[in-house]
Amino acid sequence: MQKKCLVALLLFVTGTYFYSEVARFVKGSNYSSSKEDLALQAVQTRFQKVKAECGQICITEQAKTNVIGKGWYNIVRKPFSCKKIFNYDVFDSSTELEESPHKIPAFLYDEFTYQGRVHVSNMFRNDETPFSKYADWNKDMVQNLVTKIRHGIPTSSYGAKAYSSLKLAMHHTKNTGAHVLVIGSQKPWVEAMLLEQGASHVSTLDYSSIKCDHPQITTYTPPELTAAFLSGTLPVFDGVVSYSSIEHSGLGRYGDALNPYGDLIAMARAWCLVKDLGFAVVGVPTGPDHITFNLHRVYGPLMYSHLFANWQQVYTDTDINLYVSEKHRKRTYGGGFFHTIHVLRKNRTFFAL
Ligand SMILES: C[S@@+](CC[C@H](N)C(=O)[O-])C[C@H]1O[C@@H](n2cnc3c(N)ncnc32)[C@H](O)[C@@H]1O
Repeated sequence: MQKKCLVALLLFVTGTYFYSEVARFVKGSNYSSSKEDLALQAVQTRFQKVKAECGQICITEQAKTNVIGKGWYNIVRKPFSCKKIFNYDVFDSSTELEESPHKIPAFLYDEFTYQGRVHVSNMFRNDETPFSKYADWNKDMVQNLVTKIRHGIPTSSYGAKAYSSLKLAMHHTKNTGAHVLVIGSQKPWVEAMLLEQGASHVSTLDYSSIKCDHPQITTYTPPELTAAFLSGTLPVFDGVVSYSSIEHSGLGRYGDALNPYGDLIAMARAWCLVKDLGFAVVGVPTGPDHITFNLHRVYGPLMYSHLFANWQQVYTDTDINLYVSEKHRKRTYGGGFFHTIHVLRKNRTFFAL
């Protein structure tokens, strides 16, 4: 009898272990407990709300894509509601997960990959900033960067080439006297470039809190920016600049909530915040359409056409061969990346929006 009980117990323990391992494998993540299962269910529920509020911005099916012209990639028109895309509860809720999954959950796979048209590889990082920690940009630190730039010294977290590419792109925008929004910032080198070029004010948006006492810089987290937009206290911006940031939106790497359309929503929101004929300068990794989950996205002709939906194409330093070169494809699939820059214009008349 005792022997039978022991065998039954052994079978139960191995069975439970086997089941949890299979569940873990099927979900493509390292989640195995019921607590995390519940968290994934919460992601799924929130995502259904995102789809409902997001309108055409979150629709990527080929048959439903309204292509109205061809530039460096297809020019796509997607009518949507600015009011709905700033629905605080749906788009600005914090992550339900303790940590981003290491692989795309099965229920979001089609959405992340444009129905299987975007190649995926996996590399994991967790760069979430603890709640207790915020970036501290003091006035002198920003002013030192401005002075360096004024003396012709390139300042960038990505080397001199990134600095000069961004500067070249900014020849297509009018920054003197402008109020510009920077999306994604850990060190204020883009802010310093804008101030050096005569911007009257820079607002910075980042998932992490940034403390800054420079009189010409205001910082926001996404919930703070949304609250200001909804209360009508947010200024209308002359333009937006974002370098090496939007490609991360919605991948969970920075503690943000998992969202296959985080990048498309960030650009749609930027469109709402900028005045008509205002600009966007955006630097993201370019190559064959690809996601290195959860590190970043790499944009090719498919993902660019959706990322920049409703924006008029003005300038790029992208070599279109990057989309198809075999060497670059291998590099991209292996986790390598190379930023290029686009300058875009909001033009309501052109898109009949
Ligand atoms: C790779 S870091 C680089 C930031 C910037 N290029 C720099 O040099 O300081 C990316 C940053 O973008 C932020 N980020 C990405 N998408 C964002 C979004 N949609 N809204 C706010 N912050 C975002 C992340 O929190 C992170 O701090």
